[in-house]
Amino acid sequence: MKRRTFLLGSVGFLFDATLPRPASAAVPQPYSWDLLPPMESRDAFISWGVKTRGEDPKFLGERFDRFRILVANRDVWNEANKRAFLMTPREEFCLKRNLDRAYDNAYLDIGYGVTISGPHVVGRMTSSIDVQRGEKVLEIGTGSGYQSAYLAHLTDKVWTIEIIRPLAERTRGVYDALIERGYSEFKSISTKNADGYYGWQEAAPFDKIIVTCGIDHIPPPLLQQLTPNGIMVIPVGPPGAQHILKVIKQQAGDGSITVARSDIYNGRIVPFVPFTKLEGDRIIGTHNQ
Ligand SMILES: C[S@@+](CC[C@H](N)C(=O)[O-])C[C@H]1O[C@@H](n2cnc3c(N)ncnc32)[C@H](O)[C@@H]1O
Repeated sequence: MKRRTFLLGSVGFLFDATLPRPASAAVPQPYSWDLLPPMESRDAFISWGVKTRGEDPKFLGERFDRFRILVANRDVWNEANKRAFLMTPREEFCLKRNLDRAYDNAYLDIGYGVTISGPHVVGRMTSSIDVQRGEKVLEIGTGSGYQSAYLAHLTDKVWTIEIIRPLAERTRGVYDALIERGYSEFKSISTKNADGYYGWQEAAPFDKIIVTCGIDHIPPPLLQQLTPNGIMVIPVGPPGAQHILKVIKQQAGDGSITVARSDIYNGRIVPFVPFTKLEGDRIIGTHNQ
């Protein structure tokens, strides 16, 4: 299967002044699933990140500080997700003008009228689907690329769809530049510019699906592309007032399917950018019914 839909002219991306300028240094140590960042000490984590990943001590410190808060608030709650959060350089997915806020407890503008979700929401949504290594995961709403980069530290099978073509191309360029620098784990992310309402039929079924845009119903094609007993997390509700639902597609012994839903924020509203609709090559309205 072709893993990359966009073989982007990365020239356009590399000279995009709004994005963080890629560091010239290569990642010192090749990626391995055995890499385990220290979780007990800020100083130990920073030293490890500089030595192993070649990252900036300032961002490593901010990542660790945010990590401690996410753990305390139970936004990340298992070892795999703790590791994934600490391994993912969020600063690489933020606009240059927002770099000082990369680890804030907030969503940030990424251009094109959309946002990168806050680290607490990414942590909680991803922890709630409990991705196991080797599972197939589909993300709807690539945006900055941060969510799928985080997923690539949980499994080596990630697919992600973005509806805004120039954003999809820009993010493909971000991944390609990071892979070039040695973040080889991002080779496992397949990207596509399309309307994610219809899922990714050629790659289905998926063990887990994560939707990062808000809609007033669960898209039937996504439910259909979920494996029996698979889990989806999706913001559902009217515009700007969604509840983030964990949806389990349960299959009984007789083959009948039921859907169990629970709210991962116990009723709290979490507004998301809308789940928009593609008609031809134009985005027109949303998929709300
Ligand atoms: C909250 S933002 C992105 C968050 C993203 N996961 C990240 O890590 O930056 C939601 C994204 O969903 C995209 N989107 C909205 N409707 C979509 C659709 N029908 N298919 C695919 N992507 C869609 C938006 O363009 C936007 O980039």
